Amino acid sequence: MSATIIDGRAVAADLRAEIAAEVATMAASGLAAPHLGVVLCGDDPASATYVRNKGRAAARAGIRFTLHTPSGSASTEEILDLCGRMSEDPDIDGMLVQLPLPRQIDTARVLEAVPADRDADGFHPQNLGRLAAGAGATVVPGTPLGCMELLRRAGVPISGARAVVVGRSVIVGRPLALLLVNADATVTVCHSRTRDLAEVCREADILVAAIGRPGMITADFVKPGAAVIDVGTTPVDGRVRGDVDREQVEPVAGWLTPVPGGVGPMTIAMLLRNTLALARARRGEPSAAGPHG
Ligand code: GUN
Repeated sequence: MSATIIDGRAVAADLRAEIAAEVATMAASGLAAPHLGVVLCGDDPASATYVRNKGRAAARAGIRFTLHTPSGSASTEEILDLCGRMSEDPDIDGMLVQLPLPRQIDTARVLEAVPADRDADGFHPQNLGRLAAGAGATVVPGTPLGCMELLRRAGVPISGARAVVVGRSVIVGRPLALLLVNADATVTVCHSRTRDLAEVCREADILVAAIGRPGMITADFVKPGAAVIDVGTTPVDGRVRGDVDREQVEPVAGWLTPVPGGVGPMTIAMLLRNTLALARARRGEPSAAGPHG
């Protein structure tokens, strides 16, 4: 048996087309197109590529996109000032600050300076808190939301399943664990100090690898028939590599997301969905997708 490969590119393209159609409907009813403001601080090449891709995808969906590029030597206060100005601009619906930020900047303070009702990434403590409370959040971090959408569209049973998330970041591991709990999975979160990691992972019906260690998840981590979601995107010799050793895992797993072409394209599609949801909320319209989580 060989795993069903979940095609994130195809799902993301469908989602982007749905979002573009909703934006066109907004415009047809005389409402302004959604507007996303982005802060890219410094010259990290991977971040620059991600932001360029976000800008292109936004433009194709009819979402306005404004980029601010403060220097990599900016202070926390300078970034807070910029976020403050963007927060007061009545024309901006959604904002995000690309991570990671340069070392001298206090990331937690910056994430709190993006107002919860303009938080296109869903990283504000208030939005993460709503997710933790199972209260139905308007915005949810894009990568975990993308993982959930791939599981659902592939028909992987989630309710009652045992899920193991390897990685506890605010961007992926923590919010994904909450989304899985809210979808009635039984969830274990693992990290660098977890003992007997392979043994814990082998219990998973749904195994998510978000560690940033290329090829670390080998066949002995995987229960036969499990859904394996690979969130890793580490550049190795000019190519992007996932956390899963595909050659070993594909014959064992039931489903597998490839790298590239699995979770990656979903992150941007979900960012556009969050931006649209924020714009609809600001224009007093209910979101077609409804609250998540
Ligand atoms: N860096 C890696 N992933 C993300 C993301 O989803 N949002 C932001 N702002 N930065 C990131």
